[in-house]
Formats: sequence, structure tokens, C-alpha cells
Amino acid sequence: MGKALDGVRVLDLTHVQSGPSCTQILAWLGADVIKIEMPGRGDITRSQLRDIPGVDSLYFTMLNCNKRSVTLNFKSDKGKKILEELVKRSDVLVENFGPGVLDRAGFTWERLRELNPRLIYASIKGFGPGPYADCKAYENVAQAMGGSMSTTGWEDGPPTVTGAQIGDSGTGIHMVAGILAALYQRVSTGKGQRVEVAMQDAVLNLCRVKIRDQQRLMRGPLEEYPNKSFGDAVPRAGNASGGGHPGSALRCKPGGPNDYCYVIIQAQVWPALARVIGRPELADHPDFATPEARLKHLDEVFAIIEQWTMQHTKFEVMRMLNEVDVPCGPVLSTKDLIEDKALAQRNIIAEVRHPERGVFKTVGCPIVLSDSPVEIKSSPLLGEHTFEVLQELLGYSEEQVKELQAQGVV
Ligand SMILES: CC(C)(COP(=O)(O)OP(=O)(O)OC[C@H]1O[C@@H](n2cnc3c(N)ncnc32)[C@H](O)[C@@H]1OP(=O)(O)O)[C@@H](O)C(=O)NCCC(=O)NCCS
Repeated sequence: MGKALDGVRVLDLTHVQSGPSCTQILAWLGADVIKIEMPGRGDITRSQLRDIPGVDSLYFTMLNCNKRSVTLNFKSDKGKKILEELVKRSDVLVENFGPGVLDRAGFTWERLRELNPRLIYASIKGFGPGPYADCKAYENVAQAMGGSMSTTGWEDGPPTVTGAQIGDSGTGIHMVAGILAALYQRVSTGKGQRVEVAMQDAVLNLCRVKIRDQQRLMRGPLEEYPNKSFGDAVPRAGNASGGGHPGSALRCKPGGPNDYCYVIIQAQVWPALARVIGRPELADHPDFATPEARLKHLDEVFAIIEQWTMQHTKFEVMRMLNEVDVPCGPVLSTKDLIEDKALAQRNIIAEVRHPERGVFKTVGCPIVLSDSPVEIKSSPLLGEHTFEVLQELLGYSEEQVKELQAQGVV
């Protein structure tokens, strides 16, 4: 069966996580993604956090599936020429170098659009135009500057990062949306355009509800927050729900570090919840009967529910509460997830065979298109497709590529 992005060629000048997470999704959706890497070294993550000596790390293999790898030194004269020719034959160029890197190499946006007016030039940076435009950025820098760290953690603890890579992979997903929109607009205009996503902006977009609460705070305390006092900024609120219905992570049997279930007291299910936990009288109790009354006694309410959850495992709690329509979720550890049979069945935890490391597990594509199924293929070895791509797209012979190799160009 064909793929949604069949016929779209992506020149992938990305490295580390934010850019590769974007181009991996494009590859899964069917684009021909050609990853351009520095000869001899490649993407720095190939050798970072290695678990098997001499073999591409999981960091690399889990972010670069379904791509082709071409080595090319785009700072050499011959390398520049080759990159120019590849630009002319591509639909999209994605990059996430530090500020000014491509400009210094002679590949400004003006030059790129001159080479190929249909090119979509997608650029990820830490920051948009402004005081930080020239600064490099990594995941936690974006979390620090996009509102995530100041609002994550406990009131009496330091600002905290979240385990979800919202600065890197979160930005990558935003960039996918931008690229697809530009490809769609090109259908009617015939022209490419520049697409920019700043990691700070992407994190801030994901922290939207905290900016909502900042404005609410100006009118008074945030009553659904567990905090007793408020300053002039949204405080860290532990595991408070952040939505219109209060929630909390409650301890379960047998009491290990991830034996918790997150329980949400959706207003309409309170009587059923009270019944399940063996306290039916609380359904009509004046301190607990209405959402407004419960807000004033949230600590007490959750302590009562926790007396019940502690008698059951997190999965039993999930089952029993769902029987009466109470939204809840057991806290799943990474071990729980990687061994989850339902996720494996849907290829969300997927097994991939790599030529050097053997079989490894990766997280599959969370975007499911009925007419464009994703087949997850291995990440490429460094330069695995250099000859194939130079021959296929530029008509180079094996001898010519060998000569370029000897000169350190590819
Ligand atoms: C991630 C980041 C901090 C890494 O910084 P870094 O390791 O110093 O890498 P940079 O991107 O700044 O520079 C890469 C260098 O390698 C060179 N390079 C990379 N691939 C090359 C190739 N194929 N041929 C020739 N040179 C190459 C670049 O030209 C550049 O050299 P220069 O500084 O002399 O111009 C930086 O790239 C960045 O801020 N990126 C934007 C934000 C981002 O995406 N961050 C999250 C990453 S998960």
C-alpha cells in the first residue's frame, strides 16, 4: 500500500533529538528521508550513551528509523556543490544546528530558495528572534525557559524537569505540523517557504494551561491548587490535576515506588466513587457532596480514597474504578510499559532488527493513518546509503564516489 508522503524527499540535516524526532515521523509517514552526516563521525548521538561498544547507541537508533544515511562534508567545496544539487532535488530541508551554522556554510535561506524555490526550509532553534536568538539550547534549557520547570515539582522543592522530552520531541512534533502545512500550501502556490519552530515556544505552547492560571491568579488564589498560599506566579502544585476536576496520585498495594494510581474526582461520578470505596454516606455529606464543598476538603477527600486504594494493586484500582466510570490511571513504570502486551500488539512498543545490535525495542508511531500504515525499519549505519543516493539522484559512478571518499568529501 502507498504511503501518505510518498514522493516527498526530505534532506535531513538534523542531529541529537529535536530534529531527528521530526524527520523520523516524516519517514514513518512515507517520505524519503536522507540524513546528511559528517564523514567519519555522523550524528553525535551515534556514540553517546552507548550500551554496546562500537555499535550505534539506542539514542540514535530510536530516533532515526526508516531514514537513509549519506556522509557529506558540506563545508568542503565539493561537498557544498553536492549539497546544492541535493537541495535542487528535495522538497524539504530540515535542520536544527546551532544559530548561524548553515549561514556560515553559505546555505542561507535566500541562497536555498534561489537554488530551489519549491523548497520548504524547516529550522529548529532554541529561541525565536529576540535577546536569546544566538543561544544554543538543549531539552532542559527549553523546559526552564518555556514555563515547564517553574510549574513542575513540589511547592517546597526546586523547579523540576519532566521526563517527557517536551523541549526536543515536543518541538519535533510541532515542526512536523509546520512542514505538512507548508507542503499543503505549496500545492496551490507552487512555492516553498521557511518554517521555524523555537523550542521555548513549543514548550510554552504545551504549558498553555499554566499561562491560563497565571491570568486567573491575578483575580485571586487558585482554589483547585493544593497550595496554601500564593505569590505572584503560578506555583508548583505537585500532582494536582491542572484541569476542572481535582485529581491526585494515590498509593496502592504493595507500596513500591510506582505503586500509585492517579484518580480524578469527576463531579458526576462522586456518588459512585463513594460507593466503591465503601463510604456511600459521603455522597450526601455536606462537606463532600458538591465540587465546591470538596474543594475546601481536598486533602481529606483524597486521604479517604487512599485508605481504599492502599488495599488494592494499581491495576485492581484501575479495573474497579472504571467499572463505575471513574477516570483514573495506574502509574506505569518504564518496565511496565516496555513489557505491555497491548502496546506491543499495536506496535507502539515495537521490535526492530538492527544489522549490528540485533533486535531492539523502540516506541512506534503514535499517529495512525488507515491508508498509510507505518512499517518501522532500522536506522541506517553511518553512510550506508552514500553511494546509493549519489548514484540515484546525481548519477555518480562508484569510482567517483570512491574518489570523493578518499578526499574526505563523503
Ligand atoms: C544542539 C546544539 C546545542 C549542539 O551544539 P553543537 O554540538 O555545538 O553543534 P552546532 O549545531 O552548533 O554545530 C555543528 C558544527 O558541526 C558542523 N557540521 C555538522 N555536520 C556537518 C557536515 N555534515 N559537514 C560539515 N560540517 C558539519 C557544523 O557546520 C557546525 O560547525 P561550525 O560551528 O564550525 O559552523 C545546537 O545544535 C543547537 O542549539 N541547536 C538548535 C536547538 C536544538 O535543536 N537543540 C536540541 C537538540 S536535541
